[in-house]
Amino acid sequence: MKTSDQWQLARDSAERYQTILTPSILGPFAQALVEFADLQPGERVVDVGCGTGAAARFAAPVVGPLGQVAGVDVNASMIEVARALPAVAGAPVAWHVANATDLPVPEAQTDVVLCAQTLQFLPDKLASLVEMKRVVKANGRITISLWTPIEDNPYFHTLVGAMAEHVGPETAVGLGAAFALSDGEQIRELLAEAGFEQVDMQTVQLDLPLPALREFVPRHVQATPMANGFNNASAAKQQAVIETVADTLQQYEANGRTQIPFRSHMICCQG
Ligand SMILES: C[S@@+](CC[C@H](N)C(=O)[O-])C[C@H]1O[C@@H](n2cnc3c(N)ncnc32)[C@H](O)[C@@H]1O
Repeated sequence: MKTSDQWQLARDSAERYQTILTPSILGPFAQALVEFADLQPGERVVDVGCGTGAAARFAAPVVGPLGQVAGVDVNASMIEVARALPAVAGAPVAWHVANATDLPVPEAQTDVVLCAQTLQFLPDKLASLVEMKRVVKANGRITISLWTPIEDNPYFHTLVGAMAEHVGPETAVGLGAAFALSDGEQIRELLAEAGFEQVDMQTVQLDLPLPALREFVPRHVQATPMANGFNNASAAKQQAVIETVADTLQQYEANGRTQIPFRSHMICCQG
């Protein structure tokens, strides 16, 4: 495959992330993290692993024109999509392609770091947390969202189970990675190792109104690392995944709407 084709694929994935995942699941949780962070007018914010920028874009109007927001992601295609979206009101948002271990912002000048559903994917979690600590002011706060265990998240749990059963565990593992850092004790140990003295950890549940599942599941899968395995499976196996998820989650349907609980840790670290 030529480099230009690879770039196009990467860009397509980022577009799918923005059009499918952000409105349905990641956007509401990015907004919940911004609310949890209790941002104040004039504050300086860095969104680490910003993806297409959902949390940064929710933060900008809250900190207002006297604030500053930076969105940082290692994936250039995510940043391309973030830059191409219409500007939001409030603080100017600067977009950067950079690694979480080497944030392109000066030392001790940030009030709040936002890290929405990203820490679990970072290859060097400890170094990334130490880097977040470097950029915040002495009284600054680092706020992190991480899914609670997959068993607490019926949509993801059912989808991963159905994918493992009908397509294969090697495909299902693509979504399972989002739950690689879900255990509360493990998270606390990591934060202690990074040197945080005060850690406030809460669980937030959002009941999200997903579109009809027989239509949503195949679209959602295309916006995840499970897409290749799913697309290479037979039509019968694909349909079995969709039917299993839709049937299992029928209990969450009422009056033509599906409202499914999703649960995430919300963590604020200081000191
Ligand atoms: C599940 S997405 C979350 C994106 C966004 N925070 C949101 O809530 O929609 C995880 C993001 O982490 C980014 N990421 C992975 N490794 C990274 C690294 N080492 N440094 C910075 N970003 C990274 C990915 O590119 C991806 O955009």
